[in-house]
Amino acid sequence: MWKKISFNVKITSVLRGSDKMNLPNYKEAMKRNKKYDTVTYSIDKELLNKYSGKKYFLKTYGCQMNEHDSENIKAMLEELGFIETDDYEKSDLVLLNTCSIRENAHNKAFGMLGRLKHLKESNPDLIVGICGCMAQEEGVVKSILNDYKWINFVMGTHNIYRLPYILDQAIETNNQEIEVFSKEGDLVESIPVKRDNGFKAWVNIIYGCDKFCTYCIVPYTRGGERSRKKEDILNEIKTLKELGYKEVTLLGQNVNAYGKDLYSDYGLGELLEEVAKMGIPRITFMTSHPWDFTDKMIDVIAKYPNIMPYIHLPLQSGSSKILKLMGRRYTKESYLELFDKMKKKIPNVSISTDIIVGFPGETEEDFNETLEVANYCKYDNAFTFIYSPRENTPAAKLKDDVSLEEKERRLYLLNDTVNKYFLENNKKLEGKAVDVLVCGLSEKKKDNYYGYTFNNKLINFTGNTKIGDIVKVKVTSAKTWSLDGEICE
Ligand code: 5AD
Ligand code: SF4
Repeated sequence: MWKKISFNVKITSVLRGSDKMNLPNYKEAMKRNKKYDTVTYSIDKELLNKYSGKKYFLKTYGCQMNEHDSENIKAMLEELGFIETDDYEKSDLVLLNTCSIRENAHNKAFGMLGRLKHLKESNPDLIVGICGCMAQEEGVVKSILNDYKWINFVMGTHNIYRLPYILDQAIETNNQEIEVFSKEGDLVESIPVKRDNGFKAWVNIIYGCDKFCTYCIVPYTRGGERSRKKEDILNEIKTLKELGYKEVTLLGQNVNAYGKDLYSDYGLGELLEEVAKMGIPRITFMTSHPWDFTDKMIDVIAKYPNIMPYIHLPLQSGSSKILKLMGRRYTKESYLELFDKMKKKIPNVSISTDIIVGFPGETEEDFNETLEVANYCKYDNAFTFIYSPRENTPAAKLKDDVSLEEKERRLYLLNDTVNKYFLENNKKLEGKAVDVLVCGLSEKKKDNYYGYTFNNKLINFTGNTKIGDIVKVKVTSAKTWSLDGEICE
């Protein structure tokens, strides 16, 4: 049994550089402090298995960064003795690892909180925690303090290594614990990890973002750019290789900035090259900002056969006027120059993108320029969004003069445009044999497998194999979002 829940609120934020604040604070979050140390994770022995047998349910929203944080969170909870369950109604602890990127991510998390409130009314012993990007938002934490006093703890993105202590404190004291560092602190190595699968792994190479695109909340929720030391990254990948991992994704909000804060002559290109030489069969990276994409990176991707010929290159808008308002640091012309260079130098490269429609001030002509770029680039995949104003971002202060109806029309038109190229590109693979990493059994037909090609295309296929293998598959037919195939004999 947990102790009975009381509704006291105690704020235990440990802040670096200031003793005034104890809640997320955007002014602090905007500051960039280039000094940090690397420290090693540890946990007090008394906490190990303290909650043996208790069940936890962890729900992850948002990007790969959050997915990977959740792999750390799971491992820490399991050190405490918790066992994972996929049924939140039967769990002792529910933790939401949240996302702030657009309003609908918020709405999903708040919707889940509505269900949890009911659950907690029938089971007051249930412990509920919030972490991830929403925990870094001033407005969200204020609302939790005022209207969600039944939530047991809130933990920010900069201190997930403190989870065992925050959770233990919340249970022991019955207080609402809120520990959010407004600014990033030291870089913590050796946080335990429970990877979601045994053949594909995320590897963080850089945390945070200093680009401050005007629409984006990430520089506030994830802090300044901090690269992990190359030795720490290479050691992690060496271990993954020894464990038989087939694919690693080098991860960061802006991986192209890797190394700038640590080294004068070592960046993503050099890191990719060293990783490629280690011999992991597949290496990829995300997410890239076009501004930091160097020729060295392109050359390395082209040279090494184990670097996947797949690049995610967010466009955001095809209008230089809107790109300037977005603070993207490139123009339509310089983006296209980079795009052409990639296509020319990297054989059979697949390029995907992100595009926002309905940014404040986007006219019909601006939008048409986006369509033009989409028609020119013929992307292999595109994630398209309606602009969503985010708290405290500069764009949120701009006059939003595009009606929702118009934004929806533009999104529809854009999707129609990009989708036809997905199919066109996939059709080119019909009849060809492609390398596929087998990822699981297909949901629709249980005797079929699904996996990803070397260009990161989803393929469903038949034949004899096992999950985690890399096999040759003949593409039998192409669809808009996937391929069908059969294993080559
Ligand atoms: N509104 C809409 N889309 C956004 N993105 C980031 N911030 C916003 C916002 N405020 C999109 C961008 C980014 C992707 C991860 O999410 O396209 O590349
Ligand atoms: Fe969402 Fe961005 Fe946070 Fe990822 S980093 S969870 S996309 S807000």
